[in-house]
Amino acid sequence: MSKILVTRKIPGKAFETLQNSGNEVVVSQFDRVLLPQEIMEMGKEAEAVLTLLTDRWTGEMMDQFPKLKIISNYAVGFDNIDIKAATEKGIVVTNTTSDVVNEAVAEFTWAMIFALSKQIVTADNFAKRGLYKGWQPNIFLGHNLTGKTLGIVGLGRIGTMVALRAQGFEMKVLYHSKSKSEEIEKELGIEYRELDSLLAESDYVSLHVPLIDETRHLINAEKLELAKPGSYLINTSRGGVVDEQALVEALKSGKLAGAALDVHENEPAMNPELMQMENVILTPHIASATIEVREKMTEQAVDAILKVLSGEQPETIINKDAWQKRRK
Ligand code: GLV
Ligand code: GLV
Repeated sequence: MSKILVTRKIPGKAFETLQNSGNEVVVSQFDRVLLPQEIMEMGKEAEAVLTLLTDRWTGEMMDQFPKLKIISNYAVGFDNIDIKAATEKGIVVTNTTSDVVNEAVAEFTWAMIFALSKQIVTADNFAKRGLYKGWQPNIFLGHNLTGKTLGIVGLGRIGTMVALRAQGFEMKVLYHSKSKSEEIEKELGIEYRELDSLLAESDYVSLHVPLIDETRHLINAEKLELAKPGSYLINTSRGGVVDEQALVEALKSGKLAGAALDVHENEPAMNPELMQMENVILTPHIASATIEVREKMTEQAVDAILKVLSGEQPETIINKDAWQKRRK
C-alpha cells in the first residue's frame, strides 16, 4: 500500500479507480490552491502525487518527499515543475497530453478568433444591458476571416490542430516553430516564417509554445512594434509568454486591434488595464475545460500513478531519463 496525495479534488470517473486501488489516497479537502506547507504536511511519506498546474514543484519542495516516485501533473504544460531536479532525484514526471485536450485547446483558440473578429462578447454585453434599439448598419463592425492571415507561433500538436482547422475558413496560415517540416507544410498548406516576419504579416497571431526560458516574454514591446497594424493576439499557452505591460501599450496605441487571453502573467490576478479594455477578451484559463478533456486527463493522471507504483513506465512520462534511476 502506498500513500498517494491528490492536491485538489478532480472530476472524471477514473478518480474512483484511484480511490479503489487499495492505496492510501489523501485528497485535499480544500477547494482551493494549497500552500506548499500544506502540501508537505498532507503529503508526508507520499510515494505519488497528483498535482495541478497551480502547484509549484521546486527541487527543495521535492526534498521534502523522500519516498516520492511520481509527480503526475494534471495538465499539458509542466512549467510548474523543475523537471531537471526531478530527473536528478529519480522522480518520474508525467503530464496529460492527448488528442482530446489538444483538440479542445485548438477549438478554444478558434472560439477566441471568432469572438474577436465578430465582437461577440461586447455585442452580448450591449444586448444584455438593453442598449439595442433597432438594427443599425454601423455597430459592432468586425472582420471577415476569409483571405486573412493567421500566424501560429509554436507548431506542436496544438498549433498543428489550429492550422488544420484554418483550412475550412480559407485563411492563409503562417507558422513559426523551432523545427521546420516540409512534409507538414505541404500537408497543411502552411508556410514557415521567422517570428518577426510572421508578426508583420499576420492579422491574427496565436501562441502555442510552452513556457521555458527561451519563450518567457517572447512577445515583448520590441516584437509588438513589428506587429501588423490592426492585428489581434490570442494566447492560450502560458501567460508568461507575453509581456502584458507591453501588450497594454500596444493596445492603447491602437497598434493591435484586440487580444484574447485565456492565460495571464500573474494568475489568478488579471491585468487591471486589460480588464478595462473593450477590445480585450479575458477568460480564466479554461481552454482545456471540457467534460471530455477532464475525463481523459483524470484517466491519464491516475493511470500514470498506478503504473509507476507497479513498476511500469507510463506512456505520458516527460523525463524518460528519470526511469533508469527511479526510486524503488
Ligand atoms: C492547461 O493549461 C494545461 O497545461 O493543461
Ligand atoms: C442583416 O440582418 C441582413 O439581412 O443583412
